[in-house]
Amino acid sequence: MRWKRTHTCGELRKENENQNVSLMGWVDRRRDHGGLIFIDLRDRYGTTQIQINPDSPAYEEAKSLRSEFVVAFKGRVRLRPEGMVNNKLLTGEIELMAEEMEILNTSKTPPFPISGESNVSEDLRLKYRYLDLRRPEMQRHLLVRHQIAQIARSYLSGLQFVEVETPILSKSTPEGARDYLVPSRVWKGRLYALPQSPQTYKQLLMMGGYDRYFQIVRCFRDEDLRADRQPEFTQIDLEMSFVDEEDVMSVAEGLTAKILQEVMNISVPLPFPRLPYSQAMAEYGSDKPDVRFDLKIREISELVGSGEFRVFREAVAGGGIVAGLTVPGGGRFSRKQIDDWTAWAKGRGAAGLVAIKIKERDWDSSLNKFFSDELRLRITAAMAAQDGDLLLLVAEKRETAQTVLGALRLELGAQLSMIPQDALGLTWVVDFPLFEYSEEEKRYVARHHPFTSSKAANLNDLIARPAEVQARAYDLVMQGMEIAGGSIRIYDTETQSRMFQALGISDQEAQEKFGFLLEALSYGAPPHGGIAFGFDRLVMILAGCHSIRDVIAFPKTASAMSLMENCPAQVHPKQLEELGIVFRAD
Ligand code: AMO
Repeated sequence: MRWKRTHTCGELRKENENQNVSLMGWVDRRRDHGGLIFIDLRDRYGTTQIQINPDSPAYEEAKSLRSEFVVAFKGRVRLRPEGMVNNKLLTGEIELMAEEMEILNTSKTPPFPISGESNVSEDLRLKYRYLDLRRPEMQRHLLVRHQIAQIARSYLSGLQFVEVETPILSKSTPEGARDYLVPSRVWKGRLYALPQSPQTYKQLLMMGGYDRYFQIVRCFRDEDLRADRQPEFTQIDLEMSFVDEEDVMSVAEGLTAKILQEVMNISVPLPFPRLPYSQAMAEYGSDKPDVRFDLKIREISELVGSGEFRVFREAVAGGGIVAGLTVPGGGRFSRKQIDDWTAWAKGRGAAGLVAIKIKERDWDSSLNKFFSDELRLRITAAMAAQDGDLLLLVAEKRETAQTVLGALRLELGAQLSMIPQDALGLTWVVDFPLFEYSEEEKRYVARHHPFTSSKAANLNDLIARPAEVQARAYDLVMQGMEIAGGSIRIYDTETQSRMFQALGISDQEAQEKFGFLLEALSYGAPPHGGIAFGFDRLVMILAGCHSIRDVIAFPKTASAMSLMENCPAQVHPKQLEELGIVFRAD
């Protein structure tokens, strides 16, 4: 480098006219125009047009410039001639008349264009992530990420929260996913677990007297990946002492509002609405309801439970429900469309889908004969259906009906463009059950995690009536995505032991796994609670992305691979030997 850069490629304006400056960046585009060479020089701040005249000493060498060469230019800022101003560019009023040029580095032809819209496969982008990261769109995402991290730090620090780092080589914590394990060389046969969250550590910090903790922290979970899940992801994690639900939720709301205000310039009214879990499931068929659009699930079990239509009657008699959606304007769906939706619902576990068109304030359906005139009217009213609408009904076990209709609701909402994309759909979900029954493990498991405090009036209820006990837990939902979750914790040994017992964890196992926590609880643990935001998900929503991978600099693919450095990878046999690891042949 023969000289230093004086400005970035997004900085120069007409006020800089006639200044001698030097810019450095990447060749975005080279155009040759009637003997003149134009270079769009790009860095993360923007693009500046460089003009190289035939009489410039740089002219001959400039002919060799190609896309993505790294170049330094020295020259004078000049106003663009009238009619040549580019309003789309921040620097569109000026150009740099190049007097000197130094090629700082050459580049092979990139495997995909860096500028402009292009349909590049994600695998290719991930393989050459460093090139993908040069794209202005990706740079914008990472800047939003940076901005949110800074806001969170300053907001929480302003409220006396202390940022404390917790171990990455740690002991397995039970967030419900599989652990990533790291074998120890020193202690052969023993393993560290990468933390699924800093849950136990942050509770121990409360016991350590740091009454307000936060951390922007990496978490690791070996679970099936989706568009909003990564094996390593980041949380904005916080914990507070001497608090109840209201305190934690109000800090989380304040932080969310601050971020929305500063990043999006949106003022959200506080407090956020709250939905009890049972209502979220009944109306939206989801514990992370997309409340941006109505299309609610309505139940008509009571109306049809003793009627003539066998499918409905038997479902209700068997403890199930009859419920459905009223699709506005769905009366125009063709036979084929309805068949397709039926097949779709069957694919998600429903036995069938009953479709009824509403016409001239009655049903236009072969099922009319099973329902009296009055009953048809009452069902239509209960479903809030109008002429031209379509009823889509299922008769299933409550849980199946809710999940199928919840998924159908989202799919219909998207296909019929019913979801206002810009709306935030912020809502708390509260009053969760403390446990859920795991068919796989044939036992109750903690819905949140085993340190969550319950609303049970009597501790015996944890064991006697596990299905009925509610948790002091809360989830924050935005655009139908869970962006944060937390709870008030158990803070005494007795309750924590009962909880382990209710989960079928023996005293011995509890001692082995969480002895340190049980012990700590017996040394004056303060009442405490907290919450963790899915930082990547928050960035994803605020940056307007559809994939979590687009807001992480170096993400893994959906099959947990890094295509760039090709990892996970095999290691040298000597490393395995040192760890005492031998892989089975199968
Ligand atoms: P939870 O397991 O609900 O709670 O996680 C908190 C938030 O983290 C985000 N999240 C994820 N984001 C991307 N990829 C993943 N694989 C992933 N898993 C979770 C979600 C979720 O709301 N220790 C508790 C928090 C507490 O109780 O304070 C915990 O980890 O947005």
